[in-house]
Amino acid sequence: MRIIRGLVATVLFTPLFLTAQNTKTAAAPPMGWNSWNYFAGKVDDKAVRDAADALVSTGMRDAGYIYVNIDDTWEGERDAQGVLHTNNKFPDMKALADYVHSKGLKIGIYSSPGPKTCAGFAGSYNHEDQDAQSYAGWGIDYLKYDLCSYIPDVMEKQAPGDYEKQMALMHSAYAKMQQAIAKTGRPIVYSLCQYGWDAVWEWGPKVGANLWRTTGDISPDYDRMSVIGFAQAGLSKFAAPGHWNDPDMLEVGNGKMTLDENQTHMTLWAMLAAPLLAGNDLSHMQPDILKILENKEIIAIDQDPLGVQGDRVYAEGPIEIWTKQLKDGGKAVAIFNRGDVRSNEYPVTLHFKDIGLSGPVNARDIWGEKDLGKITDGYKLKPVTHGVILLKISK
Ligand code: GLA
Repeated sequence: MRIIRGLVATVLFTPLFLTAQNTKTAAAPPMGWNSWNYFAGKVDDKAVRDAADALVSTGMRDAGYIYVNIDDTWEGERDAQGVLHTNNKFPDMKALADYVHSKGLKIGIYSSPGPKTCAGFAGSYNHEDQDAQSYAGWGIDYLKYDLCSYIPDVMEKQAPGDYEKQMALMHSAYAKMQQAIAKTGRPIVYSLCQYGWDAVWEWGPKVGANLWRTTGDISPDYDRMSVIGFAQAGLSKFAAPGHWNDPDMLEVGNGKMTLDENQTHMTLWAMLAAPLLAGNDLSHMQPDILKILENKEIIAIDQDPLGVQGDRVYAEGPIEIWTKQLKDGGKAVAIFNRGDVRSNEYPVTLHFKDIGLSGPVNARDIWGEKDLGKITDGYKLKPVTHGVILLKISK
């Protein structure tokens, strides 16, 4: 709970909005797992327990993946008092939360400000306080709040054709749930999901959001993942400890992405200081996928305590170079090859002035797992198609 004490010096005739600068929650981008990308509507109590067990047995928990987030389709019916119950896939949410907590993990849940969620289950419309109290009672630590039916059922009905008013309704819906959460007194990470609408990065912090989706849904293929990831250019100024841009959950290990494509995905998300929410089936994961998700040097870039999101500094044909300032004075430099000719190495010359470096500098090739020693201006490398070379630069 945030308690604010003090005197208001003058009588206010306009409403006073206190912005909750909730920076202690999600001081670094949240890390964990979310059920949607792999299990979608098939998620149940067992799948969540299995994910929690796998986070521990694979070492992912100790690498930082601590949130176990249940997405849509857990919701049952409301009783006569309006209290929402789980459906029969989740016989006892409190017991499940206790189990997840007993593993040294945290648990997340999902709802919508509309009457229905995106999958057609009960949303929190007109039940915000009640639902927030239920979450707190169960021991929930994270809420993803997805716009869904709030668009047709509330925004378009209450303000037909009036875009400004529709946006105001949307903002107030998100603020309302934030207030409901605050009233419970439980620290709950608050994650907005409204697909980046209305430049959410500009007003997300004002409604108490710790993170906000910046795009529509990801899917497990290079084309969609890269369209979403590279479209984040320019958003770095809106991220800070406690407030993160969210380009959607990871698809590492899902679909048919190659090793290079999975490395590109993980690198781009780390450069973006994005939430790292694995979306694969953790209990049946190939070793090369675990190696990518668990790479401590990549995770350290994502979670760097300076809390600065990286951004694109250079583009040339299929090549994009992104840099991210790190707290130790170093820099992460990612050289991506977005070309669509398979297995084609593309020659790149690093011009230090283009990427904010003055040399010589010490470099480490993170995916190559080797120190390159001192490199100088004009250094040449060859990222493969759909691949990336990620350098950690230190003076
Ligand atoms: C929307 C969200 C997804 C997921 C589904 C669940 O599409 O963007 O991430 O939560 O709803 O129905």
